[in-house]
Amino acid sequence: MATIPQALHLGAAYYPEHWPEDRWPEDFRLMHEAGFNVVRLGEFAWSTMQPEANTFRFGWLERAVDLLAAHGIVSVLGTPTAAPPAWLVQQHPDLMAVDELGRRVQFGNRCHYCVNSPEMHDATRRIVTAMAQRFGDNPHVIGWQLDNEYNRVCFCDRCQGAFQRFLREKYAALDALNEAWTTRYWSQTYSDWSQIPIPIGRHNPALLLNFQQFITHSYHRLQHLQIGLLREYVPDHIWITHNFMGWFPGYDHYKLAEELDLVSWDWYVGTGYHDYLNSGAVHDLTRGFKRQNFWLIETQPGHVNWSTVNNSLNKWEAQAMAWHAVAHGADAILYWQWRSALGGQEQYHGTLVDQSGQPRPFFREAQQIGKAFRKVSELLAGSTVPADVALLNDYASRWSIDWQPHHEDFDYVAHLTHYYRPLAARNASRAVVSADTPLDGYRLVIAPALLILDDGRAAALEQFVRQGGHLVLTIRTGMKDRHNALLPSRQPGPLRAGAGVEVEDYYALLEPISIEGDDRVGQSRQWAERLRILDEKSVQVWARYGRANGWLDHHPAVTAHPFGKGIVYYVGAYLDDESQQALLDRIMKAAGVEPILFTPPGVEACLRQRPDGVALYFLVNHAAAPATVSLPWPAHDRLQDRTVQGELQLEAYGVSVLTRV
Ligand code: GAL
Repeated sequence: MATIPQALHLGAAYYPEHWPEDRWPEDFRLMHEAGFNVVRLGEFAWSTMQPEANTFRFGWLERAVDLLAAHGIVSVLGTPTAAPPAWLVQQHPDLMAVDELGRRVQFGNRCHYCVNSPEMHDATRRIVTAMAQRFGDNPHVIGWQLDNEYNRVCFCDRCQGAFQRFLREKYAALDALNEAWTTRYWSQTYSDWSQIPIPIGRHNPALLLNFQQFITHSYHRLQHLQIGLLREYVPDHIWITHNFMGWFPGYDHYKLAEELDLVSWDWYVGTGYHDYLNSGAVHDLTRGFKRQNFWLIETQPGHVNWSTVNNSLNKWEAQAMAWHAVAHGADAILYWQWRSALGGQEQYHGTLVDQSGQPRPFFREAQQIGKAFRKVSELLAGSTVPADVALLNDYASRWSIDWQPHHEDFDYVAHLTHYYRPLAARNASRAVVSADTPLDGYRLVIAPALLILDDGRAAALEQFVRQGGHLVLTIRTGMKDRHNALLPSRQPGPLRAGAGVEVEDYYALLEPISIEGDDRVGQSRQWAERLRILDEKSVQVWARYGRANGWLDHHPAVTAHPFGKGIVYYVGAYLDDESQQALLDRIMKAAGVEPILFTPPGVEACLRQRPDGVALYFLVNHAAAPATVSLPWPAHDRLQDRTVQGELQLEAYGVSVLTRV
């Protein structure tokens, strides 16, 4: 098993192939001055590494890695497979992906390959093996990144054949597939595997789900190939990662993360400013892919080039973002990219060093982050993020809802985040994990729109509640099976007994409707479910619908049901923000979930726990104005190296890392 680096890293993506070699020493000197200790390089450099079929050139890369090391900077190498070069594509035009309209994609951008192309797999074998042979035992290479942001879907005939084989493997008999997919509907019954199409546009829900799983399977194959090739030469203690894209929906990230030693992701704000109540969820999602710390392997130095308005982050906003990421489990922050290339598609992207080779104003901010990282790097070694609350995430449920949202504004991620924000606003320790993760250790589990609920999942959730856990079921929970077919029971399917209620019907709402709770009146938007009480003796009704469409009027909207030693809540409404906060406050209290610390709005408190039990408290002010936090105990401020008691002042976008004294 690879050793995951235990201390903080700070760095950038650097492309030595863009610059004359005599410039490198100055770049590396500046990196050292910025406090950088890692650089990511190599991804996209295929045409420089292998300018023609039988010529490999790695000397330049080796010299760059060595020179970086001489400046105290370690390297992460990217395999360049996201950028198959022109000569290769010319030799094998079939290597290029085909779009939904049947057009071969044009050469000249990136990620243009067909993920199932045998020529791509062959070419990958050659370039990755050659890289691994050359750099596998290089002492300055601490990790590898595979490809870059897997994302393209190919619709070529060969992918269709591979999809059919994938289905054959999974279902074994066509009858089983026809049955599970309800293909008698609209006469879709298949009598031969070769009749099954790749779905384009609306389709049979089971076909859609299987194709999405096939995309996961296809990237998994290519990834597995690369890992195997690297491992021939790369020792086990060197880690292998891929850079994911947060909430990107294209494949099941849990499946792809299984084989990786470390998960990393690329965080871009684009237009506007970062909202920590939302971005915390993405860090937690990424940490949840393997339930371990992660790397933020790309983030924006100032601004991007690809959004509608490429505004810069405010001065020091990136500082708050860097610590926010660390507080949520990041062990590294790497900016993309170091210096503006003179040509290529990304000329206007933010960088640390500009086209003239001089540091931009942002450089000083990165330098400040570097200084502070050095102060706590050793202290943080081995520390992880504990969590009282788990939010369950499930790609199949998300895809299914995306294909049939029933209300055009219903968005799975926005709905999950609607449950995340009230927890984040109260500094509850929390995680976002796969719906198939073991639930021991959590006090509260929230299953937002966990549409797909088979008996296995239901049994694990029920067991969690029997043992004293609190479980929140929400709208759209417990409706379908693993083939994306409706369960032949009312929502929440196998959890009806646990919930003590069932859903008699669901309503997409044209307008918000009123909700009357014990002590407040609020609204439900987009969606409302009419709950029928099954266990009259013990279900408590926490809120009812007011006058609505007639069907919903005065029916229960939110319920709580003591079950075993715990409680199951059913939230049949999509509450307004204030009511949602009030509801989650009440549930957190009942479940015994305490805030890490009390902070004013805009300031977050997070916790990392060292293996020796020492708790590290992070206070991050996400506001552009100073803030004050009242500390309940005296503490040692590790960045300022002083003892603090009572009121702690944070500057605009300021940060404190505290240990209790
Ligand atoms: C990322 C990509 C980088 C760079 C960056 C620009 O998605 O991985 O290579 O293009 O966007 O924001």
